[in-house]
Amino acid sequence: MTVPARIALANLPTPLTFAPRLSEELGTTIWLKRDDLTGIGLGGNKARAVEFHMGACHEAGADVFVTGGGPRSNWVLTAASAAAARGLDCELVLFGDRPPAGTSGVDLLDRLGNLRIHFTGSPVRASVDPLLDRVKARLVDEGRRPYVVGRGGAGPVGALGYVAAVDEIDDQARRAGIRFDAVWLAAGSCGTMAGLVAGYRRQSGGPLVVGTAVHRPIEECRRRIEGISEEALDLLEVTRRYPVRWQVTDQLDPDPSEVDAAARLMARTEGVFLDPEYGSCALADLIRRAGEGRGPVLFLVTGGTLNLFCGSSAA
Ligand SMILES: Cc1ncc(COP(=O)(O)O)c(C=O)c1O
Repeated sequence: MTVPARIALANLPTPLTFAPRLSEELGTTIWLKRDDLTGIGLGGNKARAVEFHMGACHEAGADVFVTGGGPRSNWVLTAASAAAARGLDCELVLFGDRPPAGTSGVDLLDRLGNLRIHFTGSPVRASVDPLLDRVKARLVDEGRRPYVVGRGGAGPVGALGYVAAVDEIDDQARRAGIRFDAVWLAAGSCGTMAGLVAGYRRQSGGPLVVGTAVHRPIEECRRRIEGISEEALDLLEVTRRYPVRWQVTDQLDPDPSEVDAAARLMARTEGVFLDPEYGSCALADLIRRAGEGRGPVLFLVTGGTLNLFCGSSAA
């Protein structure tokens, strides 16, 4: 496979901003990378992955974009919005049954008009995978050319978005005269973190990358990050790979009051809203460990606007 061209769909570069009042509260210098402002499909981290997936989809000559996740999934909304913006048909597999109006992203998906949604009828996230295979087989039988991406869009192609983001961050940090000691983010399917790790493996002396695991056990996250980051570097044919310091911390069973306090602190000090499932958990984790003497820290604001209005439990 060759490196797909990136199709510009997101508003990049996103701002890199100092968070003075949050820094003062935490006693650690914090900067924010505002990837909640990427634009397409309510914004968020997945917009960077989708640019490369759309490139690969185009290069494969595909005529329908197929993916899946949960009815509140940031990835699904971003991917389907990008497909609409490209004039591409889209088929989505969502776990569960069609949710009541106003409780998920399905109302927004319905507006896109370019897609068919299939519900698995099971609340299990993994129920998406076999139905994705069946949708793909049906499309092929119909003479269509589907481009299929698994749940979360995580994989070497999607990770290229955050490999490129490392260059963007470096450039902005250099101009701001700042050198980050750590980059902190929420890790779900781990594609975002894998991209950052791969990006920093191309250079020596990068920051510590810390992922707060919100869905998957730490060991599974580690395996995914290692695997996806190496595959992304293989894809890019990077031969010189430097060691990177990275770690995954556990926030699988967070204290809801700590998570809520973190979200309120970010809102009160910086006027930035963190979603309850990812960003707030990652910040709660950072706050708990802020005394460990790191700084300056770059906190990646990954978006999740849909979850601000529909509650948690995306996919
Ligand atoms: C808002 C938000 N932040 C962070 C993440 C985690 O990203 P990843 O799945 O690449 O680990 C997700 C994943 O869906 C997300 O929706």
